[in-house]
This record gives sequence, structure tokens and C-alpha cells, in this order.
Amino acid sequence: MTTSGAQYDQIGVKYDEYARTATLKRAECYSILKLVGMLDGKRVMDLACGFGFYSRVLKQQGAAQVVGVDISPEMIRLACQQEQAQPLDIDYQIWDAADLPYLDTFDLITAIYLFNYAASKAEMLAMFQNIYNNLARNGRFVAYLPNPAFTLSKPNCTPYGVTVLSEHPETDRYACEAEFLTDPPTAFNYYRWNQSTYEWAIRESGFRDFAWYPTEVSPDDLRRYGQAYWRDFYDNCLIIGLVCQK
Ligand SMILES: C[S@@+](CC[C@H](N)C(=O)[O-])C[C@H]1O[C@@H](n2cnc3c(N)ncnc32)[C@H](O)[C@@H]1O
Repeated sequence: MTTSGAQYDQIGVKYDEYARTATLKRAECYSILKLVGMLDGKRVMDLACGFGFYSRVLKQQGAAQVVGVDISPEMIRLACQQEQAQPLDIDYQIWDAADLPYLDTFDLITAIYLFNYAASKAEMLAMFQNIYNNLARNGRFVAYLPNPAFTLSKPNCTPYGVTVLSEHPETDRYACEAEFLTDPPTAFNYYRWNQSTYEWAIRESGFRDFAWYPTEVSPDDLRRYGQAYWRDFYDNCLIIGLVCQK
């Protein structure tokens, strides 16, 4: 099983289809925008930017500068294609977050589904350290990741656009197989790391504070889909937010 970011060279545009159709993505997007807060004038790095979904949203919400970084040349090609079609002055670069050098000083760094591709604890720590080194003093880091508390013994995430197929326990994490519910479904793999491993890496890299934030559904989507639709979502949420303060 390949549990690496390189799989996104194959997933390519299917991730775009997933992002446009899954209600999970709507709740995620609502929650992330709450966590990033006011963006006016901010210098932002969007790490693991994929095809630039959040890079564009962050720029449109008022960020002064956005640099999108991803390990996948195919994802960056798709991001640049969108930038050409609808220029927002976003700079896209290919880097592995575990080997990321100092690029600039950023007020905010986002990493939406990066750590689930850390191959080892050492790689996760390197990612946190590189993020820390690119942040301004008092800078904020916002991550989204597989919820350490998710369990296959409770309802799956299928109604919301992702089905988790299996979870194999390993030291400090589960190796997971899942599908984006595109047409046809798109298989992908990821690691669901333990909460204690994240908190170890956060402290080791020097962040002074951090907090976990459960995913929320917007009032609009609660009305649109109804409370009953979201019950399983809240009962066993697949994803969670993490905010670290330098
Ligand atoms: C699920 S996609 C998320 C894309 C985007 N953040 C979003 O939410 O729309 C995960 C992305 O992480 C990237 N990735 C995985 N490992 C990486 C690494 N070590 N460094 C940088 N990017 C990585 C993949 O190439 C992929 O584009």
C-alpha cells in the first residue's frame, strides 16, 4: 500500500470533483475559514495546497500574498492552470514539506491534509519544524487532519463523500484505505496519527500553544440538509482542526 503524497499525481482532477461535490468539504471549508480568521494584509503559505482550492479561497478572502506549496507536480500543474485561467497572483511552488527550506516570513501557514502523509514520526517533526521556521513571530499555523478519535465501530463518513474502507493499527497511527465518492470512486490511502504524536511534534518544534477544533457545519448547511443528515457526522467525525501559535 502506498501511503504517500505522490499518489496525488494519479488522483489529479478527481480530487477537484470530490471537492466540488462532497458535503464533508463544505463543513471542512466553513470550519477552516473560522480558524484562519481575518486575512486582510496577511502573508500566507498554503502547504500541501493540491490544486489550490484553499490558496484561492485565502487570496479571495483578503490575504495580501499567498504561496501555494505541494509535493505533487501534477497538483501544481492543475493549480497553475487555474491561476492562468483566473489570475489571483498566487505563487505555486513544488516542495516536500519535510524538506521545505525558509521561503519567506508568513503570518499564517495552512496545511490541509498534510500530516496524514508523514511517513514517520521524524518526518512529521521535520514538517512542523519547517512550518515553524517559515512563520513570523506570533504567527499562526492552521492544520486540518484525520480525526485521531475517528473509529470504524461507529457510522462511516459515506453520506458526506468519503468511505473509510479499512484501518490497520501500527505504532502511533493507523494505516487507512478509503475512497473519495466520485464517479467512479477514487481510492486513496492515508495515516491517521495518534493525538499524542501530534502533540509531541508540536512541542518539540517550539510552538508555544495549540488547540484542537472539532469540525462544524454552517447554519446554512444545517438548514439545507436538516439536523438528522448531520447526526452521524457529529457522532464520528472523520476530520478535525488544529491551531498552533508560534
Ligand atoms: C488531500 S490533498 C489536499 C489538497 C488541499 N490542501 C485541499 O484541501 O484542497 C493532499 C495534498 O497533500 C500533498 N502532499 C502530500 N505529501 C506532501 C508533502 N510531503 N509535502 C507537500 N505536499 C504534500 C499531496 O500532493 C496533495 O496535493
